[in-house]
Amino acid sequence: MKRAVYPGSFDPVTYGHLDIIKRASEIFDVLIVSVLNNKGKTPLFSVEERVKILKEATKELPNVQVDSFSGLLIDYAAENDLHIAVRGLRAITDFEYELQIAQTNRKLSNGNLDTIFLTTSLEYAYLSSSSVKEIAYFGGDISQCVPDFVAKKINEKFNSNL
Ligand code: PNS
Repeated sequence: MKRAVYPGSFDPVTYGHLDIIKRASEIFDVLIVSVLNNKGKTPLFSVEERVKILKEATKELPNVQVDSFSGLLIDYAAENDLHIAVRGLRAITDFEYELQIAQTNRKLSNGNLDTIFLTTSLEYAYLSSSSVKEIAYFGGDISQCVPDFVAKKINEKFNSNL
């Protein structure tokens, strides 16, 4: 059975991530979407909230599981017997960063963790979680960026922080 992990911050998940999740779920038997618990960052949503949002957003995809991890991806992958990471590439600007992470992971895992890239569908190539948060922060319309229930949660966060 081919399993893969799609790691990320997903703060919050966007239509760009969901496009990658759907397409990767058609390639692998099981896709584990795993939220990084990055203690060095102050996220908009807690890991628990992000996991809950991802579960709701992927509920129609039966072979997608949602999890979280802390520390190095290679350690999480080894503990869970995962050997393929999936990442999305939006543009050439993503490439250098992603290439470096992929090569580091392959080297540090002694070849046990490889990365495959899916190119984000063109209609979502402009999207990032950071821009979604900024647009929402300034009261802009994020309905084309994230599912409605996610937009509602983002707006609630910003309204409660006022
Ligand atoms: O959604 P993001 O923030 O672009 O995802 C980045 C992520 C989570 C894939 C990457 O930062 C990661 O795997 N972090 C875990 C720590 C790690 O393994 N670092 C080594 C690679 S240099």
